[in-house]
Amino acid sequence: MRSERFSLLGRHALVTGAARGLGQGIADALAEAGAHVVRADRVGGGDIHACDVRQADEVEALFRESGPIDILVCAAGVTSAETVFEATAASFEQVMSVNVTGSFLCCKAAMERFRNEGRSGRIILIGSVVGHQGALKGHVAYAASKGAVHTMAKTLARTGAPLGVTVNVVAPGVVRTEMSEQAHGPTGLAALASAMPMGRLQEVRDIADACIYLASDAGAGLTGMIFDVNGGMLMR
Ligand SMILES: NC(=O)c1ccc[n+]([C@@H]2O[C@H](COP(=O)([O-])OP(=O)(O)OC[C@H]3O[C@@H](n4cnc5c(N)ncnc54)[C@H](O)[C@@H]3O)[C@@H](O)[C@H]2O)c1
Repeated sequence: MRSERFSLLGRHALVTGAARGLGQGIADALAEAGAHVVRADRVGGGDIHACDVRQADEVEALFRESGPIDILVCAAGVTSAETVFEATAASFEQVMSVNVTGSFLCCKAAMERFRNEGRSGRIILIGSVVGHQGALKGHVAYAASKGAVHTMAKTLARTGAPLGVTVNVVAPGVVRTEMSEQAHGPTGLAALASAMPMGRLQEVRDIADACIYLASDAGAGLTGMIFDVNGGMLMR
């Protein structure tokens, strides 16, 4: 059956930033597609494993305690609207430490695991349209961090390819989550939606479905790709 190419039945996935927003939606969608999903976030509780992705020891412990892993999705992230005039070394570093160092630490743990176990793993990083074109206003650290995520993924894809590991980025435009609501406010989001070619923002589901594709057999030939899921916000 054609749909089996998109099934994740029997796969084990780990999703960071899974307590809310995109991470939560991606974790739900991977589970719906058949995967066994381990959910992690900075603060744990319920079925969420506590893991601050900035801390190497916490990331190592998460991987030790998570059982087998075939798919890693790094959706933990933070933003800051600060301009270059407002940001400081400390506030810049705060964003970079979660979005870049945190993603790096999770990718490192996953790549080591895949290499040691001879697994053809899948890694999906969450980038952003601003990783291509920079932010429209402020968000200096955030834009820098997403550019770094895009280029790190391409580099990891080259390292992973001979091991049978794919590494891709899903780069959303604007999705309505607590992060984007805080960054743009309701009026800002409405204005962004009406300026989009499709006249709407992305849904969490749009991003989650792209992750299913990249993690499934159907996505086996894709690596080092920035998969733009932005409704035509940026065409390149
Ligand atoms: N919402 C958008 O429009 C949009 C657009 C492009 C990219 N993104 C990216 O998607 C990802 C998810 O964003 P979102 O909109 O769901 O944001 P969100 O703020 O709703 O969720 C982010 C999650 O990451 C977790 N997190 C933050 N710091 C962490 C840490 N140190 N360790 C572990 N978990 C941590 C938070 O607790 C939260 O649950 C981010 O990387 C974001 O940059 C979002």
